[in-house]
This record gives sequence, structure tokens and C-alpha cells, in this order.
Amino acid sequence: PEDIRVYEFAEACAKSPAEVITVLFGLGMMVTKNDFLKQDELEILGEEFGIEVTVKDALEDANYIDDYLEEEVDETNFVTRPPVVTIMGHVDHGKTSLLDKIRSSKTASGEAGGITQHITAYTIKQNDQKITFVDTPGHAAFSSMRARGASVTDVIIIVVAADDGVKQQTEEVISHAKAANCPIIVAVNKMDKEGANIDMVKAQMAEREMTPVDWGGDIEFIPVSAKTGNGIDDLLENILLQSEILELAADPKAKAKATVVESSLEKGRGPVATVIVQNGTLRVGDNIVCDTTYGRVKAITNDLGKQVEELGLSETGRILGLNDVPDTGTFMVAQDSDKEARDIATTRAEHARAKELSKSTKVSLEEMSGLI
Ligand code: GTP
Ligand code: MG
Repeated sequence: PEDIRVYEFAEACAKSPAEVITVLFGLGMMVTKNDFLKQDELEILGEEFGIEVTVKDALEDANYIDDYLEEEVDETNFVTRPPVVTIMGHVDHGKTSLLDKIRSSKTASGEAGGITQHITAYTIKQNDQKITFVDTPGHAAFSSMRARGASVTDVIIIVVAADDGVKQQTEEVISHAKAANCPIIVAVNKMDKEGANIDMVKAQMAEREMTPVDWGGDIEFIPVSAKTGNGIDDLLENILLQSEILELAADPKAKAKATVVESSLEKGRGPVATVIVQNGTLRVGDNIVCDTTYGRVKAITNDLGKQVEELGLSETGRILGLNDVPDTGTFMVAQDSDKEARDIATTRAEHARAKELSKSTKVSLEEMSGLI
């Protein structure tokens, strides 16, 4: 499943690296024996040498270690887990305000020490059922998550401002949401505003194959106001209805697997990763690997800012203890030993570096040949 270097390819088809390089050179492709071969190069070489070359797609390749980390799924310990809901929408349509309002209206006062600061992910309770929400700081983060195959989201809420309607980013979000293949709910926000027009929003969305239920389609449109809080209960009930159908389940006893939804380097604390647990239970002391970073969970702060010993299914918190800042959308996976965690991270880092290096070598050779 890994990339193949020129000399490895040569070895595999009983040629010398020089022969491989010569063929490519003849076609104006400069490679050295340690370079990784690109898809088109592999195809050409296959034709040239009369051998069959199967090229796996890039995404599969990028996740090759994730495949290796994938354990056999044992459903005996499965329990129902709360849904993870991602809020997306055009800039300024009220994603963050809506999330803040949901949080403040659903958290007993004092519990969070007075919620003023916005956080990216949190869990609330609606009628004793938990829901985890994730804010998106722009659609870019979501697509990078998707590209890495980290489908953390169970339900997508598209926020559209009732006084503004469908805008460019709304359209982008619609295509992301469709590709994600999970239930979509449209929250028509800012219903308190004078120019609010839910029918306009419905018509614009229907044009984009997002037809409202009351118009004969299958998408729920819920009018809300992040300002007054109107409609929020309806929205939450709807989320619970949609997620019930999904029959979400996971194993709290499995090796912890979580998705990074936010990360940063904090003064005095080091790398901090906000994660959502997808399977298992993540505990203080766990050896973890997260893409090319690794470490041991030193501390966990939950979404209420409290230090906790563990995070359960669909719960979210901030993790301290990684040796570097991981990218959003990457998986954090618990390992049996610190050696295992370090080995996986190091292998990945080497792989990434080698790939980067082969790219830059090629560029510089091309630049050089342009100069000659
Ligand atoms: P980005 O994260 O920048 O994409 O924006 P956002 O979608 O998170 O929007 P945000 O919550 O920051 O709200 C943008 C503006 O709209 C703010 O000034 C909010 O006060 C206002 N706003 C949000 N929701 C409502 C609402 O329901 N009613 C009214 N009247 N104003 C709202
Ligand atoms: Mg926002």
C-alpha cells in the first residue's frame, strides 16, 4: 500500500534503477533512484516494461497506517452513543451564536463557571439524552477532515440566515454535506430580524435539491433565533429524532480512538488537542499516537473546563501530553505501550518527510533543466 521508490520498482520488475531512470528521462521526467514514483510515471513504466501496474488512490495511501491501526470490530460491548453534530454555514449566518445559545440555555448556571467564552465542541443534555456539537471556523477545516476520512459527524446542521438566504459558502457546505452522506437539518436562523423570510430560504434550498419536508422533500427546516432562543428546542428534538434512526453505537471498552477538531500550542502547557471520542474511553496516562505526533495523556480538561480522568463515547475535551501539535481531522489512538506510539508516529513522520523530499528534489531538477 506504500509508495514505491525508483530502485524498489526496478527491483520488483528485475530491472536496474538506471533502466528505469533512462525510460523516464527519455520522456522528460527527471527522477533519482530514491525518488517516489508518481502515478503517471508508474503507468508509463508499466507500459514500457510490459507489466501490469495497479495504482491505489492517493487517499488510501495517505491512510495506510490508519488501516493498519484498524482493529477488528467486536460488537459484543456496543452501547448507544450520543450523536456528534457539526454546524456549518455561510460566514456570519450565526453558527457560533447558535451554539453559544444552545449551550447557555442547556447548562445549569454555575456549572461551567458562567459560560462566556466560546468553545469549539461541547456536549449538552436534552431530555436526558446527550448531543455533542462541533462548530466549524469555516468550511476549510471540514473538508480537510473529510479528506482524511475522519467522519466524526453523524448529523450536519446547515445554518442559513433568514434575512440573507443562500450564499456562496452555503452552497459549498451543501456539497460537503451531500458528500458526507449523513442526515442534514437546515436551521433557518435570525428569524427575529425584520427582513426574515423562511420561504425565500426554502425556495433557494429547494433549487439546490434540498427540498423541505413540507414541500414534499426530505429535509427538515427549523426556524430559530440565536438571539431570542426561539426554536432551539425544536432543533434539538429534531437532532435526536434523526440520530435515533442512525442507531449509533460504539464500544466503551475498546482502545480509545478520537478525532482532533482543534489544536494549538499553548504557553506553559505545550501542544493541546481538542478531541471527540469515537470509540473506547480515553484516559489520563494512555499512550497515544496522533498522526506524526505521540505522547502520554498528561491531563484532560472537559468541555466545562474541569479536569477529568477520562472521556467517554462522543465526549469532548482538551488533551495535554502530545510532543507536537497535531493537525485537525487526524485520529488520536491509544496504544499498548509508549514504544508502539512512538514507532508509529516516527514511521509516519519519515514517510511524510520522504514524500516531501522527493517532491522538492524533482522540482529543483526541473528548475535546473529549465535553466540549462
Ligand atoms: P463565522 O464563524 O465568522 O462564519 O460566523 P458565524 O456563522 O459563527 O456567525 P456569528 O455567530 O459570529 O454571528 C454573526 C453576527 O450575527 C453576530 O453579530 C451575531 O450577533 C448576529 N446573529 C447571530 N444570530 C442571530 C440571530 O438569531 N438574530 C440576530 N438578530 N442576530 C444574530
Ligand atoms: Mg463562528
